[in-house]
Amino acid sequence: MSLLRTKSIERSIADTTDPEFQLKKSLSAFDLTVFGVGVVIGAGIFTLTGRAAHDVAGPSIVLSFVVAAIACGLAAMCYAEFASTVPVSGSAYTFSYASLGELFAWIIGWDLILEMFLGASVVAQGWSAYLGAFLEQLGLTLPAAIAYGGVIDLPAIVLVIVLGGLMTLGIKESMRVNIVLVALKLFIVLFVIIAGLQFINPANYTPFVPPAAATEAASGLTQPLLQFLSGLEPATFGVGGIFAGAALVFFAYIGFDVVATTAEETKKPQRDMPIGIIASLVICTVLYCAVALVVTGMVSYKDLDPAAALANAFAFHGQSWMATVISAGAVAGLTTVVLTLMIGGTRIIFAMSRDGLLPERLARVHPRLRTPWVISIIVTVIVAIVAGVTPVGVLEEMVNIGTLSAFVLVSVGVIVLRRTRPDLKRSFRVPWSPVLPVISALICLYLMLNLSVETWLRFVIWLAIGFAIYFAYSRRHAKIGQPGYLDPSKPEVVAVSYTHLTLP
Ligand code: ALA
Repeated sequence: MSLLRTKSIERSIADTTDPEFQLKKSLSAFDLTVFGVGVVIGAGIFTLTGRAAHDVAGPSIVLSFVVAAIACGLAAMCYAEFASTVPVSGSAYTFSYASLGELFAWIIGWDLILEMFLGASVVAQGWSAYLGAFLEQLGLTLPAAIAYGGVIDLPAIVLVIVLGGLMTLGIKESMRVNIVLVALKLFIVLFVIIAGLQFINPANYTPFVPPAAATEAASGLTQPLLQFLSGLEPATFGVGGIFAGAALVFFAYIGFDVVATTAEETKKPQRDMPIGIIASLVICTVLYCAVALVVTGMVSYKDLDPAAALANAFAFHGQSWMATVISAGAVAGLTTVVLTLMIGGTRIIFAMSRDGLLPERLARVHPRLRTPWVISIIVTVIVAIVAGVTPVGVLEEMVNIGTLSAFVLVSVGVIVLRRTRPDLKRSFRVPWSPVLPVISALICLYLMLNLSVETWLRFVIWLAIGFAIYFAYSRRHAKIGQPGYLDPSKPEVVAVSYTHLTLP
């Protein structure tokens, strides 16, 4: 049995065409952009920026955002080419099943599970940080043990359970609600930029790239792998800090790849998918750089609050009503990010179960609710536990390493698919292939090397568990190994009829 067996593109598409289960094709490029911005802007800019500037990069965090944007931009083009060629649900996992083979597809799917599960948990924690800041503005303080950063993050757990309930009941997150929440989030981000301008003290920009220094944040297992391998004295800040910062704030861009998971529901995926992915990325890059510049100008990076930096930069200047507005907006805005990542995680597991790589029983759709309820409940329980009890600041890097490794494989996949299936219609093509896809893979790899040694160790353990499951279970149960399965004229579909976005 070959590890490189691929599921043909025709077969992948055939799996989605059973009329009874077909997802509604209703999304336009505009919808995708709104969806993209909605899922991308989240805890990354609201909480992580402050921590990354404070701990590793200082004001040069803005350069980190540029570096991370370049990596994402290149990977986004690869995603766009894939999504415009293989317009089926499941994102990079499905793409790679059609190009790189089953083992790679499994690894990517496994990485994406990491991305979505832990990503949802991190954003739930960020949500809890802003809820705490908001309540504090109102004069209320939650007991430290059950608040953000406490023994148990109760608000994060409650949020995940409520959203998980909605997801299981088959929430149709309507475009109208989504547009309102995205508009609110954009308003808050623009508010930070515009209102913050008046509080900028240029002295805070010096030194723009703080000199490299030995700190607790970079010693032993917490130093970037690259530094560890180079044998240099562990240090943060300096030029190295810009890249370490980029590897961290990369988190803020995660989500545009989730846009690709809706290809099956897009009216003209070939045209709209690349527009949606790239437009959301450009909008977010501009906003992020502006926020980073403003916030590090308002407060010295040494004094930035690592939890709710945007709100507290205003509190620092005595503008408590502004801090309240920002906190309230963040609480509302981050909610959708958690929900979308949870739904994304459900979809990946659904796609993998549909293919038999995970138990098919999981993909069972509830007869009345028409949602994959078993997976939804599993996702909810795991995300709630992880968000509730994992110490703050541990998970982001894991999300990043999982996502970056998926990006590397997608970039390589574009090159492979061009060779193996030159005949397929691609309405979006990455320019200068294979040069750009290669550069994309290299930059993502480089960012991975800038993540900490302990993150790498955890990632290796995660992969080892993945391999164990693959060889013990998935390989033997994959539907692709069943006779006749690859004949696209015989679709045997277990598809889900719940759409994530429905037009009003
Ligand atoms: N990019 C998303 C966020 O920053 C995951 O919350």
